[in-house]
Amino acid sequence: PTSRSIRLAVIPGDGIGPEVVAEGLKVLAAVLPPDVKLETSPYDLGARRWHAGGEILPDAELQSLRHHDAILLGAIGDPTVPSGVLERGLLLKLRFAFDHYVNLRPGKRPPNTGDRPSVDFVVVREGTEGPYTGNGGALRVGTPAEVATEVSVNTAYGVERVIRYAFELADARSRRKLTLVHKNNVLVHAGNLWQHTFDTVAAEYPGVTTDYLHVDAATIFFVTRPERFDVIVTDNLFGDILTDLAAAVTGGIGLASSGNINPTGAHPSMFEPVHGSAPDIAGTGKADPTATVLSVALLLRHLGYEQEARRIEAAVTADLAERDAAAPRSTEQIGDALTARLAG
Ligand code: NAI
Ligand code: MG
Repeated sequence: PTSRSIRLAVIPGDGIGPEVVAEGLKVLAAVLPPDVKLETSPYDLGARRWHAGGEILPDAELQSLRHHDAILLGAIGDPTVPSGVLERGLLLKLRFAFDHYVNLRPGKRPPNTGDRPSVDFVVVREGTEGPYTGNGGALRVGTPAEVATEVSVNTAYGVERVIRYAFELADARSRRKLTLVHKNNVLVHAGNLWQHTFDTVAAEYPGVTTDYLHVDAATIFFVTRPERFDVIVTDNLFGDILTDLAAAVTGGIGLASSGNINPTGAHPSMFEPVHGSAPDIAGTGKADPTATVLSVALLLRHLGYEQEARRIEAAVTADLAERDAAAPRSTEQIGDALTARLAG
């Protein structure tokens, strides 16, 4: 990294968000070399703020978030807020405003889980296009003739940049394999754009082995043979669904980390656990902070602290190997155990 300081914006959010973020920050502080200055700025956004005055993400705060190297987010959402208000108004607004065109979601299953093969893949999900842009509308709502459209947007520019990112990533990994997931036999227009862009970029990466799967077939392989995957690149909607499935087959939602990345560095990238605010366990100390801790590792890697990212991942792998399902630990106990490993 060029500068030995990290200006980190922190959005703890709702439910278990603040609980897991506290542990993530603890681990971050423990892993950083002493000469790196960490400045954190907390942002009070989410359900509480919305209830207090209807604000979701005021422009002043969006602008001030820009002046950070990265954002760490816990989770947003609460049963008392109508569905979609915070998701669209905060999470999607941030992803679009900061052009987070890569949504990175690793899936790992260490070798020590019985006789099943180890799994180590990364899903590169497009983050700014597809059916998530809000390009649609509704007519005659509430009548028998109601019409709703939700148009999937795919641009040559948007598809190419995420595919390039995926090839770069695959090329830097040991297996050097990239799978395109789409549904090009039915969604022929978008599918064709994705496929020919993929083929064109592939010619520049002769060292990367490529293949293609329809999304429905991919769901089967994620369950039956997840070890077949290395890097996967796919559109926004398919990626959303596949990555929840990926989390379920690689240790569960408590371990699934993610990065909403702007690879150009023009805007801060945002790192968050895949899970939500888990209102059913909020306040009980049962939330597993590991997904957030692994998101902190992704954050460090993005900022150029590769060695520190690896140390966190190694601490998590060691901790997982010693977990005892019969003796669950609290959020804080897991955070403390990981912090202790980094100090030791
Ligand atoms: P959820 O991920 O919050 O919870 C699903 C299930 O997983 C629950 O049983 C929960 O207890 C469990 N769980 C989640 N995280 C866990 C952890 N760290 N340790 C142990 N167990 C964990 O998804 P749900 O219930 O569909 O959504 C709850 C709220 O979160 C909703 O308002 C939703 O919109 C929001 N949400 C927000 C996201 C975000 O901030 N990026 C992502 C997903 C949902
Ligand atoms: Mg999701």
